[in-house]
Amino acid sequence: MNTNKVRVLTGITTSGTPHLGNYAGAIRPAIEASTHAEVDAFFFLADYHALVKCDDPARVARSRVEIAATWIAAGLDTDRVTFYRQSDIPEIPELCWMLTCVTAKGLMNRAHAYKASVDANAARGQEPDDGINMGLFSYPILMAADILIFNAHKVPVGRDQIQHLEMARDIAQRFNYLYGGSGDLFVLPEVQVDESVATLPGLDGRKMSKSYDNTIPLFEGGRAALERAVAQIVTDSRQPGEPKQAEGSHLFTLYQAFATSAEVARFKAQLEAGLAWGDAKKMLADRIEAQIGPMRARYAELMAHPQQIEDILQAGARKARQEILPFMGRLRMAVGLRSAAVSVPADTGAQAVDATGAASGKEKQARWVSFRETDGRFRQRLFAADGRALLLTEAFDDPKALHALVRAAAHLDPTSLLADADGMVSLVVDGRCLARAHKDDVADISAALAQL
Ligand code: TRP
Repeated sequence: MNTNKVRVLTGITTSGTPHLGNYAGAIRPAIEASTHAEVDAFFFLADYHALVKCDDPARVARSRVEIAATWIAAGLDTDRVTFYRQSDIPEIPELCWMLTCVTAKGLMNRAHAYKASVDANAARGQEPDDGINMGLFSYPILMAADILIFNAHKVPVGRDQIQHLEMARDIAQRFNYLYGGSGDLFVLPEVQVDESVATLPGLDGRKMSKSYDNTIPLFEGGRAALERAVAQIVTDSRQPGEPKQAEGSHLFTLYQAFATSAEVARFKAQLEAGLAWGDAKKMLADRIEAQIGPMRARYAELMAHPQQIEDILQAGARKARQEILPFMGRLRMAVGLRSAAVSVPADTGAQAVDATGAASGKEKQARWVSFRETDGRFRQRLFAADGRALLLTEAFDDPKALHALVRAAAHLDPTSLLADADGMVSLVVDGRCLARAHKDDVADISAALAQL
């Protein structure tokens, strides 16, 4: 990974057909952001999340294809970004389980979506959890796994998702605290709610949404369907020739989302000069069509050749998995799901070490334990006599060099622990930083080193 880049990641639940509001509010701005040089974008189809709300297999299957085709047709550069289906990445549910085991049930009890369902049940005089499945309850944990597995920095979402991002950070912090040793495993992701992005009004002026049945189709039904929908936009009853008020009319708001500022100014002047609503609708449909018409041809071509879509998604899944496999190895190692060969400390005799680092043997002493990363490099961890992990060394290609530094560290005095600006200390041996640790652990580390 290029460490100077900002990792931007977002998911789209595959439970419907994208409409014009999805395009202007999410797809278009995401594709635009992905073209910036400093952005490393990950976009995925949240099809496991779709199963939470939708038990119609045909619909889930169709939606996955339609949404993928929409993003590709809308201009997503699938070579540049990483574009994949959640369900093609088995490491996501695997991490989801690890996270589930560190997530407080009470945290999930507070989730807005879950509470809303409980409240709705109460209002209908039902049992609180009536009709609520564990997928809905644990939804935020799966979402945290989506984000944390890629160590995403920024997650562009709608307002309704802010709490899910807060939960992802909570869960990441807890996991880092429990398993991070002297360094963090997960990046804490930041939510990104872009106020400048258009929220399109629907035909009746409320937010365009499938649940209000007020949407304008994006590609489905061709230009004819677009014109039919636009003709249904509710306007006031001013007659042709009567001046219209542009601001506040949702027809005008829709126009603004697809036009340059010069076009918008002209349209506004025409409305104020008495342009008939019928003609205004024609102009709006033309304007939308000018932007999405060329994409619709590509969409139709993809939908007619779904194998092309499948190939793109498979390539995306390979790229995504390549990216996370080494990290997944570290995570398994961190929680104690280790190869039998590395579960036994190499240099302290055959004494198994459990996930908390507590020795199962009888004598309790501070000790170093060596192990090998999945990338083939070597590290050692320093455990206190009570089994607490105190230090994790840097990774070394050469196990002998690492061992020599660790041996030298045993003879060091506490002054070799140099304080860093961020509340951490570095253990410097022979002028080389062997490991970093939390400042609060300095006394224990010194005691452990002295005991060795
Ligand atoms: N919950 C999101 C929504 O309904 C979809 C989603 C799933 C998502 N996983 C994600 C968004 C990870 C951002 C990051 O809109």
